[in-house]
Amino acid sequence: MMADTGMFELSGKVAVVTGGNGGIGRGIAIGLAKAGAKVAVLARNEQRNRDTLAELRRIGNPAMALKLDVSRRADLKPALDAVERELGPVDILVNNAAFAVLKGLLDHTEEDWDSVIETDLTSCFLLSKYAAQSMIPRRTGKIINVASVGGYKGTPIYPSYGVSKGGLLQLTRCLAIELAPHNIQVNSLAPGWTNTDMTDWIRNDPKYAAVKQEMITRTPIGRFAEPDEMAGAAVFLASAASNFVTGADIIVDGGFFIR
Ligand SMILES: NC(=O)c1ccc[n+]([C@@H]2O[C@H](COP(=O)([O-])OP(=O)(O)OC[C@H]3O[C@@H](n4cnc5c(N)ncnc54)[C@H](OP(=O)(O)O)[C@@H]3O)[C@@H](O)[C@H]2O)c1
Repeated sequence: MMADTGMFELSGKVAVVTGGNGGIGRGIAIGLAKAGAKVAVLARNEQRNRDTLAELRRIGNPAMALKLDVSRRADLKPALDAVERELGPVDILVNNAAFAVLKGLLDHTEEDWDSVIETDLTSCFLLSKYAAQSMIPRRTGKIINVASVGGYKGTPIYPSYGVSKGGLLQLTRCLAIELAPHNIQVNSLAPGWTNTDMTDWIRNDPKYAAVKQEMITRTPIGRFAEPDEMAGAAVFLASAASNFVTGADIIVDGGFFIR
């Protein structure tokens, strides 16, 4: 018998992945494209945008890359409009772009706080609003917020990042309830420690070698994740397989959270 994986099929769907040119976002963008979606990656670095676009095009579906800084509020709606003009109405929004400022409370400036909250949380609120404006009349849509295990746990090293991720988990629940009557599901996935540029400091700075070892020891699977290991949860949350799942968070952390 032929396997029927139709419930995970994304052919004809249009997906937007912020920060889709590197790390976890790139892993998710490629995973969505392999499941059949037309993918738009929105991020700042044009060389990485071009490289990711080339990879998406090799998969074979229409794709695009757009230079966007998600902290520039006025640019968000025009970016989604540009995607809709080129690929069609947005069915799947992945709010993935984020960064962290590694400074404790006393060193954390107001500018640090504002820029992290703007990039990691406010952009997700605004992009969700603009995507929902397009999804509601069509009675279809999936919004996926890339949160973090750091949204649950207190950490001493990046208060604004932890707050942005905790806020994103709560934004997910609020929007899930509001958008459920419109057949739009809103969920998050929470990566654990993953091998990306964001974790360069802990992976490669000898000053943090002991912390890195502690994180690996606390992870039952015993290693950091690879970025493409986030793609499966994203495809599930983007597909019909998750049509009765909303307001949920899928923790993809090798078991770090349960220890
Ligand atoms: N790595 C981990 O261990 C880990 C753990 C838990 C959660 N996460 C979450 O997973 C997501 C992806 O993280 P990652 O580890 O893949 O990070 P990363 O390797 O640093 O990649 C971040 C991506 O976001 C983009 N980006 C950053 N600021 C942006 C902005 N202002 N506007 C547009 N794009 C922006 C970057 O592209 P440009 O620089 O070209 O804009 C890049 O593509 C984030 O939400 C992060 O919080 C990561």
